[in-house]
Amino acid sequence: MRDDLQGQFIQLYREDADELTTRLRIELSNSLLAPQASLSPKYFYDTLGSRLFQAICALPEYYPTRTEAAIFARYRSEMAQSTGTGNTMIDLGAGDCAKAASLFDVLQPQQYVPVDISVDFVRSAVESLQCTHPQIEMLGVGMDFSARLDLPDEVRREKRLFFYPGSSIGNFTLREAIAFLRRMKLACGEDGGVLIGVDLVKDKAVLEPAYDDALGLTSAFNLNILNNINRLLAADFELKDWQHRAFFHQEKQRIEMYLEARHDLSVHWQGKQRDFVRGERIHTENSYKYTPESFTGALNEAGFANTRMWTDEQGWFAVFHATP
Ligand SMILES: C[S@@+](CC[C@H](N)C(=O)[O-])C[C@H]1O[C@@H](n2cnc3c(N)ncnc32)[C@H](O)[C@@H]1O
Repeated sequence: MRDDLQGQFIQLYREDADELTTRLRIELSNSLLAPQASLSPKYFYDTLGSRLFQAICALPEYYPTRTEAAIFARYRSEMAQSTGTGNTMIDLGAGDCAKAASLFDVLQPQQYVPVDISVDFVRSAVESLQCTHPQIEMLGVGMDFSARLDLPDEVRREKRLFFYPGSSIGNFTLREAIAFLRRMKLACGEDGGVLIGVDLVKDKAVLEPAYDDALGLTSAFNLNILNNINRLLAADFELKDWQHRAFFHQEKQRIEMYLEARHDLSVHWQGKQRDFVRGERIHTENSYKYTPESFTGALNEAGFANTRMWTDEQGWFAVFHATP
């Protein structure tokens, strides 16, 4: 690959000794030792986790990816009219960057900035993408955006469009989602905006199989978090001791995902121990579902206005564009 075609990359998130021994290890230990043990979904995404998620997107049960893609395909020109072209397109949780790339021809970003915690995965995605789109300036950023959204100075300030597809916003509680949207609002300036994909409330007969597929890919994706935790914490989780659980919590309007102990067991890491009884669960993910009204309300509360929304015929998924 020619040097001038290589996408640039800045790594702000490093699994180096200092970072791990301080913030990450404390955070992980506390969440494993809490009465309801939990692990943040951001730990799903080591390189294997990112690949497993890519495979999940191809499953017949996993309607969000294809429904959102159909909305993008159908309304791409309207979206480009709404967002304008020549933006600084900041793709939060970019993964393989495929969704943003599918919109490059209409959005024609001036600069494309994929941001992801799965550093090696996004680095290789941006390098390949730079080869096929040499006209767009690309800057990959490896960082954990859950606590702060401090972007490197190399990211253009003009016309920042935060692209956040795949309903990843659903991993946050409503309060956290509004706080995250506020951070985007602050970071995008007066001439920027957000383009966000949001999964909508629907029948649980559609929702639950999307998170508990017949092939067992979501189960593998959920279990793989334990591999990542073993690596990050030097813990001794045995994957065969755990099973995948996912269900829709009607009142809270969210999918909840857990790992459930198959028998009584203990897990150890760095002088610490957590005992689990048979059937006890580790909470690994929430995926909140919105209505068009409830998500518009969240955008408004975060300080966005001028909201436009596009949805599919069944009203399963929605894409919102909003500006400060
Ligand atoms: C559900 S996937 C979505 C991937 C892609 N945007 C899509 O819509 O298909 C979530 C992506 O966000 C990244 N991610 C999750 N939590 C993150 C965090 N706290 N900071 C940075 N990236 C994160 C993951 O590595 C993963 O690539």
